[in-house]
Amino acid sequence: MSQIRNIVILTGAGISAESGIDTFRSAGGLWEQHRVEDVATPEAFGRDPNLVLRFYDMRRAAIQEKLPNAAHFALAELDTNWKGNLLIVTQNVDDLHTRAGARRVLHMHGEHLKAWCTSCDVRSYWRGPLLDRPPCPVCQARTLRPDVVWFGEMPYRMGEIYGALREADLFVSIGTSGAVYPAAGFVQNARELGIQTLELNLERSQGSALFHETRLGPATEVVPAWVAEMIK
Ligand code: APR
Repeated sequence: MSQIRNIVILTGAGISAESGIDTFRSAGGLWEQHRVEDVATPEAFGRDPNLVLRFYDMRRAAIQEKLPNAAHFALAELDTNWKGNLLIVTQNVDDLHTRAGARRVLHMHGEHLKAWCTSCDVRSYWRGPLLDRPPCPVCQARTLRPDVVWFGEMPYRMGEIYGALREADLFVSIGTSGAVYPAAGFVQNARELGIQTLELNLERSQGSALFHETRLGPATEVVPAWVAEMIK
């Protein structure tokens, strides 16, 4: 790993699982409890906004009770000590990377703790419910929605992500099933760019065959072990 200078790390729901936040596709996961079509598409929001707002109000309240785990803290330590470029691209909408102390974090699917006003297009930090249609803190319109990227919507800051991949020497994927694009395609992009690739996951993902190396185990074990190798 000595020639590694610039790193892109992709994280998914698996890194927050041991903090007590449900993943999406595991047994009993979120998408078994709720139909994607009912809560995670613009069409669902148009059809039944109360159902969608109630779902995200519940998630927003729940994540504020949770704490970062050893995997989040290990990445924060790497972020603090790594002299080269480093970008943590997270698919997660929780704030556990930031609460663990990581700074170079990019939320490609949005954030639970933000509300997006569809009148003035401003995103505001938001901890409370949206179901009772509170006024936008900027324009007072009552048109706030969760700042979460729904299925069929474009993920955020894709240009920055591809730019970081072009500069990277190492791409690491942590706690993601490789089921959702464009994130699931980053390993293919990395291979085409001749970048070293490493997967850290509880079980083999849909993209495992594309990684140079896969290490299986709980994130709280495999991530600190990998970080220890990187900053020794
Ligand atoms: N440690 C490491 N990996 C884990 C752990 C753990 N403790 N627990 C589960 N995993 C792994 C699972 O093996 C699985 O491969 O995390 C992955 C979680 O996969 P998903 O539930 O599909 O979550 P994710 O890949 O983040 O989903 C991608 O889909 O629903 C949309 O927008 C949502 O960002 C999400 C995207």
